[in-house]
Amino acid sequence: MKKVLITGINGQDGSYLAEFLLEKDYEVHGTLKRNSVSENQTARIDHLYPRIKNNLYHADMCDMASLLSIIKEIEPDEIYNLAAQSHVKVSFNEPSYTLNTIANGTLSLLEIIRLINPSIKLYQASSSEMFGNSCDEDGFQRETTPMNPVSPYACAKLCAYNLVKCYRESYDLFASNGILFNHESPRRGTTFVTNKVVREAIKIRKGLVDKIYLGNLKSTRDWGHAKDYVRMMWSILQLEKPDDYVCATGSSNSVLDLCEYVFSTLGLDYRDYVVQDSRFFRPTELRNLKGCPDKLNKAVPIQYSYTFESMLDEMIAYWEERINA
Ligand code: GDD
Repeated sequence: MKKVLITGINGQDGSYLAEFLLEKDYEVHGTLKRNSVSENQTARIDHLYPRIKNNLYHADMCDMASLLSIIKEIEPDEIYNLAAQSHVKVSFNEPSYTLNTIANGTLSLLEIIRLINPSIKLYQASSSEMFGNSCDEDGFQRETTPMNPVSPYACAKLCAYNLVKCYRESYDLFASNGILFNHESPRRGTTFVTNKVVREAIKIRKGLVDKIYLGNLKSTRDWGHAKDYVRMMWSILQLEKPDDYVCATGSSNSVLDLCEYVFSTLGLDYRDYVVQDSRFFRPTELRNLKGCPDKLNKAVPIQYSYTFESMLDEMIAYWEERINA
């Protein structure tokens, strides 16, 4: 039985990855960061509790000792580094913390692997944010597109990405970057735009609120489903050699398209409810993201089980049920 450690197991991706790996008969271990408000901290993994209850650990990516003792105890075959301060706008308010969790945290994992067991495979959750506003002539971002980060979050992710490449080349580690474009689901945090729009639109239809306040409506994103993306993460670590791969759908939509689809599915016209609010703009906006997944698709054919619309339908059904309850 293979053993795996997932940092940030209680996040959207961590929870789907844990489910996926349990189905593959892995022994799944995971780290969580302690929070003084403990309610709902494990909501995304509570249904897995009987199978992982002895394998959950408090750790902080800023605390190398916490990671070291867990990795020594578990002796995992694979580590998926998903823990992070993952909100782009928040990274402008908490830049040092963002840099520490993401860049120093990844460095700690690489050092631990190098020093105690270089055969441990590492998957690093890299981000399409690293491209910033650069893209190729055809409008796509791919592994070779120059990276020009425009937020502290993206700078931290680019640092971690380069550390992974550096350790792979310098110490021959099996360390790979998945460059993930936006990926959503009902388990997405509600401060990210997809789930925010879905939840607020349902509240509007029920008469619970009047308006929804949003930032940049013109930016476009390549939105896929998190369940599809955790399969890609695993596939990347099963390849013969470590490398870096874009994980994306290859098509993009604007925030306005998102609003239009969600509100019209609920029988509403978004123009009656959406208000632009400067609080939700970022100091620098990353305008357009559209990833080219050809490299990964060639290595392992990608299977998508959702479209942009069916993903939003699932989120709408989830929030309708929750808000009704
Ligand atoms: N969050 C949020 N809230 N975003 C808004 C809002 C709003 O009220 N209004 C407009 N937006 C726009 C943002 O400016 C951005 O262009 C787009 O909606 C998506 O924002 P988010 O959902 O917050 O995601 P993100 O693209 O900034 O970052 C996500 O994807 C990255 C991968 O590209 C995060 O999951 C990152 O952790 C991830 O690396």
